[in-house]
Amino acid sequence: MKHLLSLYDCTKEEIEAILDLAIKLKADNKAGRTHHILKGKSLGMIFSKSSTRTRVSFEVGMYQLGGQALFLSSNDIQLGRGESIYDTANVLSRFLDGIMIRTYAQSDVEDLAKYGSISIINGLTDLLHPCQILADFQTIYEHKGKLEGLKLAYVGDGNNISNSLLYGCSKIGMNVSIATPMGFECDSTVTARALEDAKKSGSLVDISNDPDKAVANADVVVTDTWVSMGQEAEKQERIKIFKDYQVSAERMAQAKEDAIFLHCLPAYRGYEVVPEVIDGPQSVIFDEAENRLHAQKAVMAMCMGE
Ligand code: CP
Ligand code: NVA
Repeated sequence: MKHLLSLYDCTKEEIEAILDLAIKLKADNKAGRTHHILKGKSLGMIFSKSSTRTRVSFEVGMYQLGGQALFLSSNDIQLGRGESIYDTANVLSRFLDGIMIRTYAQSDVEDLAKYGSISIINGLTDLLHPCQILADFQTIYEHKGKLEGLKLAYVGDGNNISNSLLYGCSKIGMNVSIATPMGFECDSTVTARALEDAKKSGSLVDISNDPDKAVANADVVVTDTWVSMGQEAEKQERIKIFKDYQVSAERMAQAKEDAIFLHCLPAYRGYEVVPEVIDGPQSVIFDEAENRLHAQKAVMAMCMGE
């Protein structure tokens, strides 16, 4: 595995190998055992959008693996002034061993991989957020002891998180129910591919506009912000459209009694989820945030390691 552009490009076995390594790296980290698998390697981190978790977890992860991470805000590098992806990919390939990029267009991430000669890791685009879903899977595994056969429900916007959940769940064999308002469904290509992959893995993919049906009997309930980065101008309109898609206490109670609640964060309490749920006993959001570190260390080791 050289790049992580999308979970669609990964095999089930690759996803499982990342999760196995992430679990091992987490246990070793807690026990104080270090692995300098990326000694002497450098990762460039290009950010065209804000970040707390992605930035800190990649930077700390690279340090823990014996390498170095460089924060490259797109405002400060020439890419932000119109230098091409082609030139950027070629130049950075002469200095670095890998690039993690957070940007708008998925095609920019794919072009970096196409034109450069180093590992490219997708740190979020408008379309996908694969690193987040790997951390989510690690978290679900820790709390449920398995992934295959569980029911994951996502309620809210058809966005980078729900698109990546569709790819990941259909690959790994988790049943996934997604409920969005009409007109805010997941990407149609992602959905079609997930339906195909689900046939191979034996998972069920259910897409609807019915949030109560989605969460019924779920093992895992997931939501995300109604206003993703870049959509700030639509905020007021979106709040009105999404109001019936909140993870309220009543809605959470329709999932299994031992269901867990996940949110990639940042969260907006009182909008997509109520405090009672996100700060309640079923919420595992901080395990989920922590697992960004461990899952991404596994991704970096597999993409950039010897
Ligand atoms: N979940 C996530 O990617 O968080 P950041 O935007 O803080 O990186
Ligand atoms: N859907 C959100 C995820 C943030 C981590 C966004 O794109 O802003």
